[in-house]
Amino acid sequence: MPETVRNTISFLLDDEEIQLHDVDPNRTVLQWLREDRQRTGTKEGCAEGDCGACAVVIAELDADGKNLRHRAVNSCIQFLPTLDGKQLITVENLQNKDGTLHPVQQAMVDEHGSQCGFCTPGFVMSMYALFETVDKPTRVEIDDALAGNLCRCTGYRPIISATQKMYELPKPASRHTATVAALRKLRIEGTVGVEANGRRYYAPSTLKELSELVQKNPAAHLLAGGTDVGLWVTKQHQELDSIIYVGAVAELQTVTKTKSHLELGAAVTFTDAMPVLNTLYPQLDELLRRFAGPPIRNAATIGGNIANGSPIGDSMPALIALDTILVLRRGDATRELALDEFYLAYQQTALAEGEFLERIRIPLPDPALQLCTYKISKRFDQDISAVCAAFAVRLDGDTVAGIRIAYGGVAAIPSRAPKCERVLTGAKWTEKTVLAATQALEQDFSPISDMRATDEYRMQVSKNLLLKFFYATTQSDPPVSVYSYGR
Ligand SMILES: Cc1cc2nc3c(=O)[nH]c(=O)nc-3n(C[C@H](O)[C@H](O)[C@H](O)COP(=O)(O)OP(=O)(O)OC[C@H]3O[C@@H](n4cnc5c(N)ncnc54)[C@H](O)[C@@H]3O)c2cc1C
Ligand code: FES
Ligand code: FES
Repeated sequence: MPETVRNTISFLLDDEEIQLHDVDPNRTVLQWLREDRQRTGTKEGCAEGDCGACAVVIAELDADGKNLRHRAVNSCIQFLPTLDGKQLITVENLQNKDGTLHPVQQAMVDEHGSQCGFCTPGFVMSMYALFETVDKPTRVEIDDALAGNLCRCTGYRPIISATQKMYELPKPASRHTATVAALRKLRIEGTVGVEANGRRYYAPSTLKELSELVQKNPAAHLLAGGTDVGLWVTKQHQELDSIIYVGAVAELQTVTKTKSHLELGAAVTFTDAMPVLNTLYPQLDELLRRFAGPPIRNAATIGGNIANGSPIGDSMPALIALDTILVLRRGDATRELALDEFYLAYQQTALAEGEFLERIRIPLPDPALQLCTYKISKRFDQDISAVCAAFAVRLDGDTVAGIRIAYGGVAAIPSRAPKCERVLTGAKWTEKTVLAATQALEQDFSPISDMRATDEYRMQVSKNLLLKFFYATTQSDPPVSVYSYGR
């Protein structure tokens, strides 16, 4: 371990400071709550971030250290040491000291929002996070806020009514000032390192410390939001002996705009990236809204999505179509690499030993570029794509001056469609040429069949999405017969 490490993590629970030593880095927040503290209000449903039964709220100081930021996360896939410096709020914390219910709870009672009750603590915590962050949510905002929670018996209508009703009930006295002061006291500089059961966890607080640690421990697993890594432990039962957490490095959390690019630190979460991305590129709005649900987006980082290298990651087709550049760091040296050159083979990236992803550079919008993104999955919310596609075309009159076509879910890696792009570049942007170009997709990809979709479906959808993009750019209505719905 580096010499400056403190072998302790500190966080707030029940307005008290909890200090833990000898923390097993593979232990989840949910296991600690239920098994070590016998605090069983928080439930376990799926143990993979899907159902929301385990939702808790994490309160953190904002970058200025003045205000609190409340976010619901799935405790089943959050590793315990990542709580360091934060406040953990569970369903047991909501009731007022005088025994009266918090408006979130009271509204659930009034609107009959619970039957068997298994999902209820998770819903209540997602609602509480909304209560703390949005004053008067619209119906769409409520639907989005609850998209990461599943209920199998009450049904959603009473829960949505309760979410509307909670704003009509008297607000409890705020304890935020005291919490801000308590969290400031917890702020201890320096790398956190914990070790137990032969497993190590480091949480460096600067980019320099992170680069040194990654170079010295090239075999360590980098951990960002843990929404992929957490499942390696809870579902694949892997034991991760060495973990380096990137979420405490302030330099990796920055969002900056240069003259030509939007630069996102690799540890910027989807929740933090969404407002700025949507402002620049409203075409990404639906894609980002449909990326998992809020408890996942609150933890999941753009860097983790890119570095994980899954062929079905949703951010990559759009970022590839936009010609995004990655900044990779190894020690003090950085290099730039186009995102479309980052993936070498299934879950293999161009990252060298001791190297990590530092920043993501997305070009600012070019008014001449027409962009569309599409996510095809069985459910609207919280589902993995069968096909994800992004198209960006630059027209010179009715001629294609340049086109970038990127797909997820149809090859072993997120990938451009080079043959299809070649057919279209320099050609007239007409229904006839686009229809002809869809045939080239068969040379670009050989999709697989799995539980999400058959190979045939994936290919047909890929072709249809390119046509859909054509009609979107020409604002014309597609004749129904132009799409083929299979043989
Ligand atoms: C219920 C659920 C729903 C999901 N829905 C979607 C979805 O709709 N669309 C989608 O695309 N994904 C989805 N995912 C997958 C996951 O949320 C994303 O891939 C997420 O962006 C991963 O980010 P993370 O910060 O959690 O990464 P982590 O799990 O912390 O890490 C993922 C990988 O990236 C590596 N890594 C992280 N940061 C860096 C870095 N800076 N440099 C180098 N390597 C790094 C890690 O070592 C690991 O290999 C879902 C996951 C769950 C559990
Ligand atoms: S237990 Fe299902 S999301 Fe955590
Ligand atoms: S109340 Fe039973 S699952 Fe929601």
